[in-house]
Amino acid sequence: MWLAPGRANLMGEHTDYNDGFVLPFALGQGVTAAAARNPDRTGSGKRRLTLCSRQQPSDIVEVDLDGLAPGRVTGWAAYPAGVAWALEAAGHRVPGACIAIDSDVPAGAGLSSSAALECATALALTSLGGLDVPRAELVTIARRAENEFAGVPTGIMDQSASLLCRAGHALLLDCRSLESAQVPFDPAAAGAGLLLINTRARHELSDGEYGQRRAECEEAARRLGIPSLRFLTGVADTDSLADPVLRRRVRHVFTDNQRVLEVVALLRASSGASADTYREIGRLLTQAHVSLRDDFEVSWPEADVAVEAAVAAGAYGARMIGGGFGGSVLALVPAAASAAGGGAGSGPVADRGSGPVRDAVTAAFARNGWTAPEFLDAMPADSARQVGG
Ligand code: GLA
Repeated sequence: MWLAPGRANLMGEHTDYNDGFVLPFALGQGVTAAAARNPDRTGSGKRRLTLCSRQQPSDIVEVDLDGLAPGRVTGWAAYPAGVAWALEAAGHRVPGACIAIDSDVPAGAGLSSSAALECATALALTSLGGLDVPRAELVTIARRAENEFAGVPTGIMDQSASLLCRAGHALLLDCRSLESAQVPFDPAAAGAGLLLINTRARHELSDGEYGQRRAECEEAARRLGIPSLRFLTGVADTDSLADPVLRRRVRHVFTDNQRVLEVVALLRASSGASADTYREIGRLLTQAHVSLRDDFEVSWPEADVAVEAAVAAGAYGARMIGGGFGGSVLALVPAAASAAGGGAGSGPVADRGSGPVRDAVTAAFARNGWTAPEFLDAMPADSARQVGG
């Protein structure tokens, strides 16, 4: 059995495909793949890949690994089948396998359930096949599965988070060089908690808005005569763009990259464990939300209300995370400093301090007549790993 976590992103949204910086951390919630080699009972020499999922019980998919090609498998199974295809395309011969999936990452909540599915499958298939593929290569293989096989044009953040994060740390990833560093991130040790608010407005990355933002960024870079928005030197660079929409998009990308570096500097200066640091990071989170809402225009009403209610109820700060148009909000909240044995890997510390924030967000949703939100306590967890078998 192999487990790959979902992720939340502390800072840097829509920066990955602009060659910028991101700062995600892995969640305790993840996707599990229980897998075994598929015996060739008929002696036909065919390598069969059989996929089933506890979340899609009526949909068992069986494919021939030799005939795999983009478009052959659709729906949830495109993600694991895509990984087998991408591994083979990279020259790694995958054995026939039977994979059973289970997940406690809520789907459509912007917590990277699909990247977790890809990464759990990647570990299962490489382990069963005795293939020694470095993690950095698995990241690009899993992303290729998502982009080319499942047809979703995402950046590289989610797969990197699922395969490279470490407990008690956030992962600083330079999406241009693909260099990464572990940054100490232990809010519990500083009497703070991370609260995820699933707004229950489902997000779908494949529905076009995400791709449109991507295209706008590429167009802006083209008009500015730079290879990507990473090459911006300041907000003033946007002045030469006549189109006010593109100017706003570019401003978000530039300022969010800056915010990633600010958060990293704050965390490093305090080894990730001072209350003042988290107050300051909270302020940056809310600033980032405003930028995502007004400049990048990817927020949605439930997220705006959740952020406003959380901050009014005492959160240090909050923002929407992920691609947008639905999904989750991350709130940084003061937790009881007495939370015994706090630190990465311990219990749901945020519980005690986040009560007023939960109550306020729940009440605000009720006032709007929306389905009640779902709350999850987050704790920077470890990346994908074997968990049994
Ligand atoms: C989704 C994509 C990522 C990234 C974020 C926005 O999660 O999968 O690659 O672009 O949106 O930051």
